[in-house]
Amino acid sequence: MQPSSNNGLEYRAGNLFCEDASLESLARQYGTPLYVYSQSAILENFHAFVRNLSQVPSLVCYSVKANSNLSILHLLREAGSGFDIVSGGELSRVLKVRAAPQKIVFSGVGKTESEVDAALAAGILMFNVESAGELNLVASRARHRNGCAPVSIRINPDVEAETHPYISTGQTIHKFGVPKEDAVELYHHAASLRELEIRGVACHIGSQILDVDPFLKAFDEIKGLADGLRASGIPIEHLDLGGGFGIRYADEAPLELDRLASGLEARIRGTPYRLVVEPGRAIVGSAGLLLTRVLYVKRSPHKNFVVVDCGMNDLVRPALYGSFHEIVPLRQGSNGMFRADVVGPLCETGDFLAQDREIAETQPGDLLAILTAGAYGYVLASNYNTRPRPAEVMVYQSHARLVRQRETVEELIARESL
Ligand code: LLP
Repeated sequence: MQPSSNNGLEYRAGNLFCEDASLESLARQYGTPLYVYSQSAILENFHAFVRNLSQVPSLVCYSVKANSNLSILHLLREAGSGFDIVSGGELSRVLKVRAAPQKIVFSGVGKTESEVDAALAAGILMFNVESAGELNLVASRARHRNGCAPVSIRINPDVEAETHPYISTGQTIHKFGVPKEDAVELYHHAASLRELEIRGVACHIGSQILDVDPFLKAFDEIKGLADGLRASGIPIEHLDLGGGFGIRYADEAPLELDRLASGLEARIRGTPYRLVVEPGRAIVGSAGLLLTRVLYVKRSPHKNFVVVDCGMNDLVRPALYGSFHEIVPLRQGSNGMFRADVVGPLCETGDFLAQDREIAETQPGDLLAILTAGAYGYVLASNYNTRPRPAEVMVYQSHARLVRQRETVEELIARESL
């Protein structure tokens, strides 16, 4: 099974469709730039995790940071998903869609007192604690309420994940988690505090990982730690492997989720553990695209530029990580191909969607789709150059609904004063 295989896209009579909706008509109705999501693709990606992990006690917690639109959270909540959150804001979002508190895990290196209080009040499954300081804060806030806080400690398993350095997290040089050699002592400290209830061991080694082995290595690390802790009387129940399951953006060999699942199953069967996974990208990445219109085509003997109406403020991944997103025309033409940079209107040389790319001949007014933009697309959008962020549309079969209105300039300046 390939989490990335399903994007709900297809050319019909030369026109690109998302499920049964014509993308050209969506562009006409809602304008561009426009994020479009396929509901069926999101659900299929989610069910692929559930299906693959069905042989072991497990909980899939969608990582909200990948795309936090309420319609997506609602859809996944209805499908039975739990949620991995990293802020009070994300907690508010998942509570708004009536997520079951016992399916919420709270990750992140910098939780504040008010965020801890809000999560305690909600009754979440567990805090994935990332430092001794945080452990003490969580304990003191639980004491303040005369309650008890459920915790796991995120350990840094020191496993190298081959991915972009900005999204690799599981080595000792990274800010995340507690070094594995300090973990046992911290667990014993946690066990001595009566306001803490120890629920599990957690890790997360990075994002867009396409190889099964780093996940299994990291799992072996957290399970080894958990086994030792259980032997010393600390009742670990949950093993949280984090997220990071890679998808196909170009021609990468996709992560073999079925092979990963059987590796995990072999390690968990017959143990007291419940597996938690926190996929973000693998659920929504392939299910979303960004529609944009060509404004100008600049040709020169040195280089060609296709200037489009979306930029790095709408989709920052190419500029920030040098990420590849396939770009296709909405209308399949008989025209040839040419080589160009696809760039946005922002005043930054880094404002590109594609560099030195062979793309279909195009002209002003044409519509293009930037693919695999459902994860870390809208959520990383900004208002740089006072550009309102795009609208978002959810497609199901032939129905499309607006799930976020386009921002207006008036909204952008409303909080400012002279
Ligand atoms: N759990 C934790 C603790 C995380 O830090 C992350 C992602 C996830 C789960 C979900 O990872 P996923 O399954 O989506 O790979 N902006 C970057 C990706 C940053 C990932 C941050 N943490 C990008 O656009 O590639």
